Amino acid sequence: MTTISENQPPFEHLLDVRDLHVEFRMRAGVAKAINGVSFHLDERETLAILGESGSGKSVTAQAIMGILDSPPGYITGGQVLFQGADMLKMKPKARAAMRGPKISMIFQDALSALNPVFPVGWQIAEMFRIHRDMNRTDAMAQAIRLMERVRIPGAKERYKAYPHQFSGGMRQRIMIAMAIALDPWILIADEPTTALDVTVQAQIMDLLKELQEEFGMGLILITHDLGVVANVADRIAVMYAGRLMETAPVGALYANPRHPYTIGLLESVPRLDSKLGETLPAIGGLPPNLLRMPAGCPFNPRCRFAIDKCREGVPPDLTDLADSVPRRAACWRVEDPAVTAEARIAVGGDQS
Ligand SMILES: Nc1ncnc2c1ncn2[C@@H]1O[C@H](COP(=O)(O)OP(=O)(O)OP(=O)(O)O)[C@@H](O)[C@H]1O
Ligand SMILES: [Mg+2]
Repeated sequence: MTTISENQPPFEHLLDVRDLHVEFRMRAGVAKAINGVSFHLDERETLAILGESGSGKSVTAQAIMGILDSPPGYITGGQVLFQGADMLKMKPKARAAMRGPKISMIFQDALSALNPVFPVGWQIAEMFRIHRDMNRTDAMAQAIRLMERVRIPGAKERYKAYPHQFSGGMRQRIMIAMAIALDPWILIADEPTTALDVTVQAQIMDLLKELQEEFGMGLILITHDLGVVANVADRIAVMYAGRLMETAPVGALYANPRHPYTIGLLESVPRLDSKLGETLPAIGGLPPNLLRMPAGCPFNPRCRFAIDKCREGVPPDLTDLADSVPRRAACWRVEDPAVTAEARIAVGGDQS
């Protein structure tokens, strides 16, 4: 009889999202926000989910966390497996118990995610009091240690300060402290640096990476900014209109984008060899209205490679591409030499 050793758990991935569907049922109609999203995250891995505003990044995170605004939001299909167990099938109480010690999240807006009427140190200490059953003194000491760990200057003195008394960067550090307090397996960071200036952005990203290693977490980094994830992600999943367009290891995606949408995203990123004053090509048009999705591929109205087939049928969900690294894309024309040639130009030369 084969036995499963402790190092070989009976699940394939730490987190495995399969064919997720989410819709918002509103008076104006049904907005299909997530349309068959599948991806996985392994232990200690960093996956970046990249996409324009409205592409469904936050809704995906909310569905994983079990905090979808419902009504109007409903998960209409799919599985969210954490260590092999489908969280979508769990009872609300069991599901709630996952939040914090198993999966934790840093929200897009740090100020509104913190409670304005309680001191920040107290809010961190509450995590230990509720989940770890600690007494007041121990919880306070633990909260101060955590505030020091995320480098809040004068942590002890600032234990009693309120959220509005901190700068944006410091508030984001407090949010990080709360998110890692219960030593989660997975941390989802939703645009953790978008509201911050560039220097502070870099400091927060460095801190997140440090803590990820120290705590051994899998990290899902949600962003619309290619620049933010280039140095920190292992893999990237590119999202558009509630679908994944392409997934690839970060190096391969930058060196050789395959999906026309990824090609467009990379073309609009400034390069070191860009000429001064040269305008960057942006992807023309707007993301689709989720209430009135175009027929065929959702990207087809903006895609310079679109042919009749793209306007008629939705491409199959992510399929494996022939490559030396694991990469997948959802596009009718992705293996077409014309598209491949443009991709090379987009990244500044022949990278093959
Ligand atoms: N509570 C809600 N009620 C109705 N529609 C919603 C709700 N939350 C999200 N949506 C819709 O779902 C779609 C995906 O939204 P989501 O917040 O996931 O986008 P996002 O990729 O995170 O964008 P951003 O970069 O702006 O944060 C959007 O069209 C949005 O309007
Ligand atoms: Mg969002």
